[in-house]
Amino acid sequence: MWTLHLESLEDTHALAADLARVARRGDLMLLNGGIGSGKTAFVQGFAAALGVREHVTSPSFVVHTMYESGRLPMSHFDLYRLEDPSSIAQLGIEEYVDDGVTLIEWAERSGGFAPPHVTISLDLGAGDDERIATIAATGTWCERLDWLGEAS
Ligand SMILES: Nc1ncnc2c1ncn2[C@@H]1O[C@H](COP(=O)(O)OP(=O)(O)OP(=O)(O)O)[C@@H](O)[C@H]1O
Ligand SMILES: [Mg+2]
Repeated sequence: MWTLHLESLEDTHALAADLARVARRGDLMLLNGGIGSGKTAFVQGFAAALGVREHVTSPSFVVHTMYESGRLPMSHFDLYRLEDPSSIAQLGIEEYVDDGVTLIEWAERSGGFAPPHVTISLDLGAGDDERIATIAATGTWCERLDWLGEAS
């Protein structure tokens, strides 16, 4: 686990860009944290670093959007509106995972995803623009995130 203090939106974008640089086809990234904690902002920074040209918005109403203009296809899910785990199962998220990199907002709403994956949890910090990011990795993500510093 890593805990990072993000002082600004730019810090969140920079963290997302760092993860995008080491992202590979088949990666699953789970994003948790309350409303306004910065999950969509993270996905926007991630997409920009992948080279996605479209504007990335919150997919709350459509649940899933796919972006194909970057280095890897990027699937963006938002489970906020899906309270019922069986409706989440019907999305067939795992069918998209192999195609590119998959980022899931409100991932905690599901019954859980099989590893390997990386979980990024965002919490509000003391100031308006501060966020605390907690990153938990499984599988090859552990080595790929070595540069984040000493794991705790
Ligand atoms: N350090 C920061 N990191 C991320 N967002 C920040 C930061 N500082 C300020 N913000 C602002 O906080 C808001 C985060 O909104 P965002 O839509 O990314 O949250 P979210 O977690 O996706 O919320 P929701 O659960 O509604 O989808 C944006 O308006 C963004 O500009
Ligand atoms: Mg969002």
